[in-house]
Amino acid sequence: MPAEADTRALGQAIARRTQQGDMIALEGGLGAGKTTLARGFIQHFTGSVEEVVSPTFTLAQLYDGPVPIWHFDLYRLKDPMEVLELGLEDALTEGIVLVEWPERMGHLLPQRRLEVGLALGLQNGRQARLAGDPSWAARIKEIGSDVAR
Ligand SMILES: Nc1ncnc2c1ncn2[C@@H]1O[C@H](COP(=O)(O)OP(=O)(O)OP(=O)(O)O)[C@@H](O)[C@H]1O
Ligand SMILES: [Mg+2]
Repeated sequence: MPAEADTRALGQAIARRTQQGDMIALEGGLGAGKTTLARGFIQHFTGSVEEVVSPTFTLAQLYDGPVPIWHFDLYRLKDPMEVLELGLEDALTEGIVLVEWPERMGHLLPQRRLEVGLALGLQNGRQARLAGDPSWAARIKEIGSDVAR
């Protein structure tokens, strides 16, 4: 993905295929583009880019969509159990959950999830890799053809 707008477009393509109970795990090191992808994703539901802020300090942000959209940034999580205090289980039951630094959840990370691996690519661009449980297999193909267009 050569530019920031492409990372946002991938977020939108994923959002179009997402439904209540889905978790999107955004993996990748510092500055890989996780929040940028979340911005595109949330924009699909709210229609606005500007209001999406990185929840680095609050750990969680809630957005209004057809169902609640939760954006977590677990970089500062000290213990996996803390995600339960943040209300992650209810968030997943009632809505859609995006998580930056999902590995911080340890064994509490649900099996049923889409994994988006982001990494630095050539010429300051980004690479994305999608993998998920069987509920995502067909959707991953659709997302791939959406962004290839
Ligand atoms: N495809 C892309 N090509 C070039 N730059 C990009 C691309 N996607 C995102 N960026 C830029 O990368 C920078 C870091 O992005 P972002 O904040 O989304 O990363 P992050 O993974 O959330 O970082 P952190 O680990 O700090 O949370 C931003 O300046 C963003 O504009
Ligand atoms: Mg971020």
